[in-house]
Amino acid sequence: MTHHSAISAPELAGLQVDLDNHWGLPVRFYTDPAVHKLDMDAIFHRRWVYLCPAERLTEPGSVVVGHAGEVPVVAVRDDGGTLRAFANICRHRGYQVATQDTQNCKRLVCRYHAWSYWLDGSLANAPGSNMEEDFPKEDLSLRPLAIDTFGPAVFVNVDAAAGSFVDAFPGIVEDVVRMGVIMDPAKYTLVKETEQDVACNWKLWYDNFVECYHCDFIHRGSFAAAYDADIRTADTRFRAQHTASRYEPKPSETSVALRPENYRSIIGFPGFMILQQDGFMILQQDGFMIMSQMRPLGPERARQMVHYFAETGSDKAEIGQWIALWEQTFAEDEEATEVQQAGLRSGAVARNRLLPAREETVLFHNRKVYEAYAQHLTALDLAAE
Ligand code: FES
Ligand SMILES: [Fe+2]
Repeated sequence: MTHHSAISAPELAGLQVDLDNHWGLPVRFYTDPAVHKLDMDAIFHRRWVYLCPAERLTEPGSVVVGHAGEVPVVAVRDDGGTLRAFANICRHRGYQVATQDTQNCKRLVCRYHAWSYWLDGSLANAPGSNMEEDFPKEDLSLRPLAIDTFGPAVFVNVDAAAGSFVDAFPGIVEDVVRMGVIMDPAKYTLVKETEQDVACNWKLWYDNFVECYHCDFIHRGSFAAAYDADIRTADTRFRAQHTASRYEPKPSETSVALRPENYRSIIGFPGFMILQQDGFMILQQDGFMIMSQMRPLGPERARQMVHYFAETGSDKAEIGQWIALWEQTFAEDEEATEVQQAGLRSGAVARNRLLPAREETVLFHNRKVYEAYAQHLTALDLAAE
């Protein structure tokens, strides 16, 4: 068997057994640059990640920039109305062909030496190239990526040969219907977007995000005051590549100002989280939704992009209170994960112990990581034979 720089074959074989015995991934996986590279190759560059609200790409000529893992992305609605995504990497010498979101764009023009591309990705013009005898213009189209929409959201996949978004997440349509998740793009409007850089490995942030064992402790005055996200009372479905949960509302006698009804989440591995709720305060009307992407920036840095949506006609002040509650919650999570990262980085301990009764979702996520590594490394072995 081939030796891999990131994970040895015996180590890979032992992982599944350890996970079955409720030990987390090796602590090294949260700090090692070679494992970060594997996270890109085996996970982020072959799966769907959330890019932006669909409302940003409705008109022909609209352009959105973002990232899928480490790949800079440019997405467009072309003149014929087709949604397209490309690596935002100029075929000349790699500058970005779009540096910000725009509307009414006819051509993507690289700022560096002004090569320009039609919205179908083909090279329109390279200044001075007509002086070249053998300039292979037709070979210099932007590198295409896969793009798809699901409800009010646009997703991209660096693997251009990926099937559809819903095929990659079997059961997701059923979950949306079962849990009453509103996916009509006309119902929701983006009201705020934030980016939060966190000094931890993306997996650590994900481990934190998917469990609420910690909620009563570090979020007593924020998330836990408004939500009951206890896995023991939630209705959670574990699917092939996502989890879908519906949570119990806080009891009506709870004396909190903010209390959502019908709170549900869909967390897709590894590139998106959809949280949606009905009911504000005592009024029990209006909807609130969060779309989020967690992106690794390096072995010990990650960036969370959060988009807050409100149902059309919702009360601005109430929405503002919900957003403030979430921002406080995320700040508390950041404090926790950064302290964890510093401890794990020391290398003084090798494994984390998980409690399946409270952290089944963490184990599920760790298993997805293991499966992705195993699949990728096996494919490399076969290719090397
Ligand atoms: S890198 Fe884009 S034109 Fe030179
Ligand atoms: Fe948290």
